[in-house]
Amino acid sequence: MNFKVGIIGATGMVGQRFITLLENHPWFHIELLAASGRSAGKTYTEAVGEKWAMTTPIPEKVKDMVVYDATADMKEIAKKVDFVFCAVNMKKDEIKALEEAYAKEECPVISNNSAHRGTEDVPMIIPEINPEHAEVIKAQRERLGTKRGFIAVKSNCSLQSYVPAIHPLMEKFGVEKVLACTYQAISGAGKTFETFPEIVDNVIPYIGGEEEKSEKEPLKIWGELKDGKIVNATSPLITAQCFRVPVSDGHTAAVFVSFKNKPSKEEILKIWKEYKGAPQELELPSAPKQFLQYFEEDDRPQAKLDRNIEGGMSVSVGRLREDNMFDYKFACLSHNTLRGAAGGAVLMAELLAKLGYMN
Ligand SMILES: NC(=O)c1ccc[n+]([C@@H]2O[C@H](COP(=O)([O-])OP(=O)(O)OC[C@H]3O[C@@H](n4cnc5c(N)ncnc54)[C@H](OP(=O)(O)O)[C@@H]3O)[C@@H](O)[C@H]2O)c1
Repeated sequence: MNFKVGIIGATGMVGQRFITLLENHPWFHIELLAASGRSAGKTYTEAVGEKWAMTTPIPEKVKDMVVYDATADMKEIAKKVDFVFCAVNMKKDEIKALEEAYAKEECPVISNNSAHRGTEDVPMIIPEINPEHAEVIKAQRERLGTKRGFIAVKSNCSLQSYVPAIHPLMEKFGVEKVLACTYQAISGAGKTFETFPEIVDNVIPYIGGEEEKSEKEPLKIWGELKDGKIVNATSPLITAQCFRVPVSDGHTAAVFVSFKNKPSKEEILKIWKEYKGAPQELELPSAPKQFLQYFEEDDRPQAKLDRNIEGGMSVSVGRLREDNMFDYKFACLSHNTLRGAAGGAVLMAELLAKLGYMN
């Protein structure tokens, strides 16, 4: 498999992650980079400047690429690539219009933005959980009048830590209630400690829109495909509280769950250990071998120690124990810009490519 890809929002935090992840990707090759008019016409090195936040240097291959204007050069970009990854900081309706414009130019869009997450015929895929939602692309193409073009989105990064742990328990035990408190890294706001000094020695108990997304988006992921739409699930009942904490990368969640039929601790641990999804079965290049990694140690998972397990694509879980208000409580961790953003989008693109949606 061989695809030419464009990165829209290449100078941003998520865009930079795409660049490092795709540097040596076996199927996807970076053909071009795009950002706002402020960056257009500059080399990538000039455009990203001091904002480069990755621990490895800017890859040689992209250093001198001249950055395109994602809006003004849209038609040219769409012609030059097989699909685009999109992670931009723009107004919601501008993002919606931009992504639809690319799709209508027959250029599939794999998006990290939230703008289309609520669109009923746009699949929001966590490849291990709901790969079958890709089938809604057929209906979306009919609506857009396209043969190839479509939009597929990634979910919000906060729920990426706890939804994977809850999902494999749902069918057998019936999950009724979930309470999740998240402790979210500053890279989730596109920041570093240099650009966000107020967070040092601090906790901010508010992240705009995050709690609503954390409560709503899992219901789409657990939804069903019916008449060309994803119909959201109506349960479990989810409540979330999301805090920003002084951590560079890695969102942690404290999770409480109640079941219809309460499982034993051993049953939960066995299911987590054995859980495999489509990426593992199809051996996709970015798939972690062990999706859910359980730690027996009381003080794990920790963001600093565990966020990079299996290239930041595994979800770590620990501290499973009974609770006196819910049935169980546990802690989860996922890398927010890898599994939670660029890595999750690359894995979704690999799934869609393997299933033939990029042909
Ligand atoms: N960070 C995370 O962990 C995370 C996780 C999941 C989802 N997301 C989502 O991903 C998106 C990007 O987040 P980020 O953290 O990477 O943001 P960021 O670091 O602020 O980067 C924003 C990017 O958008 C570009 N941009 C801004 N205005 C534009 C315009 N008018 N036209 C084209 N490009 C424009 C910027 O280009 P210039 O440099 O030219 O301004 C830059 O490349 C957001 O929708 C965010 O919600 C982020």
